[in-house]
Amino acid sequence: MAEQRIGVAVLGLGNIGGAVARALVHDASALERQSGLTLELVGGFARGPEYGERAGIGRERVSSDAEALIDDPQVDVVVEVLGGEQPAAALISRALAAGKHVVTANKEAVSKHLPAMLAAARDGNSALMCEASVGGGIPLLVSLRQIMATNRIERLRGIVNGTTNFILSKMDAEGADYAPTLAEAQALGYAEPDPTADVEGFDASYKLAILASLALGRHVHPQEISRTGISGVTALDIADARARGGTIRLIAGMQRTDDGATLSVAPTFIPNDDLFSRVMSNFNAIEIVGDRVGPVLLHGQGAGPSPTSSAILSDIIEAARAGSAASLRLGE
Ligand code: HSE
Repeated sequence: MAEQRIGVAVLGLGNIGGAVARALVHDASALERQSGLTLELVGGFARGPEYGERAGIGRERVSSDAEALIDDPQVDVVVEVLGGEQPAAALISRALAAGKHVVTANKEAVSKHLPAMLAAARDGNSALMCEASVGGGIPLLVSLRQIMATNRIERLRGIVNGTTNFILSKMDAEGADYAPTLAEAQALGYAEPDPTADVEGFDASYKLAILASLALGRHVHPQEISRTGISGVTALDIADARARGGTIRLIAGMQRTDDGATLSVAPTFIPNDDLFSRVMSNFNAIEIVGDRVGPVLLHGQGAGPSPTSSAILSDIIEAARAGSAASLRLGE
């Protein structure tokens, strides 16, 4: 018998939110066995009750009023998976200030509004958790935090966008050009109908901004990051990289300097003897270099309902166990 009941609200019942809500309802006993907590879905917020049906949680659990759901006294943890900057950022801050822990996969909202969110979490004595926002199911932020307990982070580099990695690794494997490979990625559901956020590097810059904020102990806004996407990469560029003994990947990088750090997202030559050259399809990889531990490499699925909901469920459990002590912090 679990000791503690945790009420959860899920804002957004799309692919990711639907998977989280479904797990809370249908995998309740496994989650209780694994965590020792009773996680209970209080409700989900979506544009219509049909989203509840699609998620397999029924229509009656779907609310059309996000603020009322956040304010429900039964709710202890708010999962925000609406995506986009607003109203997500405002809802996150509202929940945190009201003393609800927030678990989010929303890299755009977190990277742009981190100071306001952390202030709201301090006011509400609540936790902001965003493991799923960078690297999907890879336990990345928790690893970074663990390393930072005894290390100064000298540099970071990552393949943090699955869509562009799918496109670049496929262009390399098949000698194909950018446009048909993007069309194939769209047909397979890897790339969005409007692929701009992924292919122009915005998504990767949001993720790097979160990593760099943690590593440097100050808010790094995505606008501080020099950004080049992959839409200009041709089959010829990849063939040229191959002839030089390597390939091309979209790399998000942070390098500490004497007076701060350089931050960039750009298509980058990767030699064949670098493990990053073997990161294929929609997988992600992140290398963290600490001054004591040296390089640490994490690899796994950076997107998709199952890995992303794994990170979200872990964050819910961690927030429920440790409360505000589990929250994202900037260098304190
Ligand atoms: N569009 C993102 C990607 C989804 O391709 O990596 C996960 O953040």
